[in-house]
Amino acid sequence: MFNIPFLRRTSDTFGLDIGSSAVKVVQLQGSSLVALGLASLPPDAIAEGTIKDPPSVVDAIKDAVGRAAVGSKEAAIGVSGRELIIKKVQIPEVPMKELRDAVQLEAEHHIPFAIDEVFLDYHVVGRHDGAMDLIVVAVKKSKVVEYVGVVEEAGLNAMVVDVDGFALGNQFELNQQNERGEAVALIDIGASIMKTNVLRGGTPIFARDIPFGGNNYTHAIAQHLKIPFDQAESAKLGRDVGVSWESLVPALESVSRELSLEVQRTFDYFASTADSERIGKIVLAGGCAQLPGLTDYLSSTWGIPVELAQPFARIDVSSGHSEVVGAAGPSLAVAVGLALRQPGDKNE
Ligand SMILES: Nc1ncnc2c1ncn2[C@@H]1O[C@H](COP(=O)(O)OP(=O)(O)OP(=O)(O)O)[C@@H](O)[C@H]1O
Ligand SMILES: [Mg+2]
Repeated sequence: MFNIPFLRRTSDTFGLDIGSSAVKVVQLQGSSLVALGLASLPPDAIAEGTIKDPPSVVDAIKDAVGRAAVGSKEAAIGVSGRELIIKKVQIPEVPMKELRDAVQLEAEHHIPFAIDEVFLDYHVVGRHDGAMDLIVVAVKKSKVVEYVGVVEEAGLNAMVVDVDGFALGNQFELNQQNERGEAVALIDIGASIMKTNVLRGGTPIFARDIPFGGNNYTHAIAQHLKIPFDQAESAKLGRDVGVSWESLVPALESVSRELSLEVQRTFDYFASTADSERIGKIVLAGGCAQLPGLTDYLSSTWGIPVELAQPFARIDVSSGHSEVVGAAGPSLAVAVGLALRQPGDKNE
């Protein structure tokens, strides 16, 4: 997560996932879910990771927080999207306490912005021959200010600003940790952004965000059947809106092929940064992961197992929350990852 000097520091934070289709609130206490709330956003309130309509986003945050009845004002939020600059860099080995400064110095060579215009987050990926490999993520301060702004406008404090992909990884480590030691590709497909985080032994070794998501399916259905976006969205979710599932199939299949090509590109980038590392399986999160047939399609295309994220596998969920947890399923993965964060708990 980013080290942001102007944020206050206390504990007791909750996860506030400001997605492009919905705001999700998750609060954990130990291994129990204590608060959960969702509120949907109008389709254009957030586009490509940028807040276009702040008042709608503020309202949705208040709504989700109200429904959850969280007993705290301290939120951990995440950022995602194409403006995140994610690079693998190598620096000479330094003591951990000097790492942040060393990363800052090195990052200047890799980031197309002035270093004082960005916040940096990083993970140590490996160490060898006196060198350290890192993935460094830079985000424009202006983007963080935009997100922190709506959070504060909603009467909350942003305590932690994380990267959605890393939150996803943190969540996975709690719930589905991989014993076999092979690399796992975590892919969160939301409404508009696909976040990929490849983990090996619990550490992110690669990350990439691209603009692709459930909205691509909805737009394709709307175009193909010449129906409005809202109706196409409902049809995709299997609701009875006078459109048969069969009539959706051509649009769904063509977008799934595009999706698979995007996964291909991501894996190609990964292969170009990692020395012949094999990805053993894919774990799909985000609302789009629930699209019927998608896990099977990707699994047969890639020849590796594709599982759904289970963000509450190791979390106690009371009966009062189980219905929402069941319906939202893998779309809560990032919110759970954010809920696991506490200020200052960066593990490098
Ligand atoms: N059962 C389902 N079948 C198909 N698609 C679904 C289903 N449930 C949700 N979706 C889709 O998942 C998307 C929303 O997922 P999610 O809540 O993860 O997105 P988000 O976090 O708001 O967006 P992003 O992370 O891209 O900013 C929407 O496109 C929605 O249509
Ligand atoms: Mg999301």
